[in-house]
Amino acid sequence: MTQTLVILAHPNLEVSRINRRWQQELLQHPQEITVHELYTEYPDWQIDVEREQRLLEQYDRVILQFPLYWYSYPPLLKKWMDDVFAYGWAYGSTGDRLQGKSFGLSMSIGNTQTSYLPDGSVSFTVEQLIAPFKASLHHVGAIELPYFAFFGASFQATDEQVEQSAADYIRYILQSSPVVEQK
Ligand SMILES: Cc1cc2nc3c(=O)[nH]c(=O)nc-3n(C[C@H](O)[C@H](O)[C@H](O)COP(=O)(O)O)c2cc1C
Repeated sequence: MTQTLVILAHPNLEVSRINRRWQQELLQHPQEITVHELYTEYPDWQIDVEREQRLLEQYDRVILQFPLYWYSYPPLLKKWMDDVFAYGWAYGSTGDRLQGKSFGLSMSIGNTQTSYLPDGSVSFTVEQLIAPFKASLHHVGAIELPYFAFFGASFQATDEQVEQSAADYIRYILQSSPVVEQK
């Protein structure tokens, strides 16, 4: 069995540069990585909750991959979480199925890395923007992996930068270890 499940959510993968390149790279590693592409699996947005829950149950490590849209997830990924992380399964007195699993985010980001510094033009860091995700992991007892990001996707990234990001992404998937909370 592969070790990491990547939930890929891109509303227009056919016109994507970064996420499509990352997807190609992921598919080169079928022994270690399974890719589950939400917009292809559910063109009608009717998510098969049981199927998704069974899939998640098979993996200890899950990465959510997407382009940052309005500082957040694309909408089908949000719906996937709303539907799949259900009461009695993910949380509540009998909901323990995500406990101890590791989750990470991998994002392509249009703006530059400096714009996401504390005093940058965006006014929020990526760590701040992903707070709802962190809170959700906390709520279901899951473990947070560091995020992976490619910045400047809207600013004519070079082919070399995109290629490097694909290699870095695979290394991230295979090697990243949980974020250690600062006490
Ligand atoms: C609807 C929409 C919203 C976007 N919102 C943001 C944003 O909030 N911040 C940002 O840095 N880039 C934003 N972008 C730029 C995307 O993040 C960028 O196009 C994407 O990461 C490129 O990845 P791709 O080549 O896989 O499509 C947005 C793009 C679109 C189409």
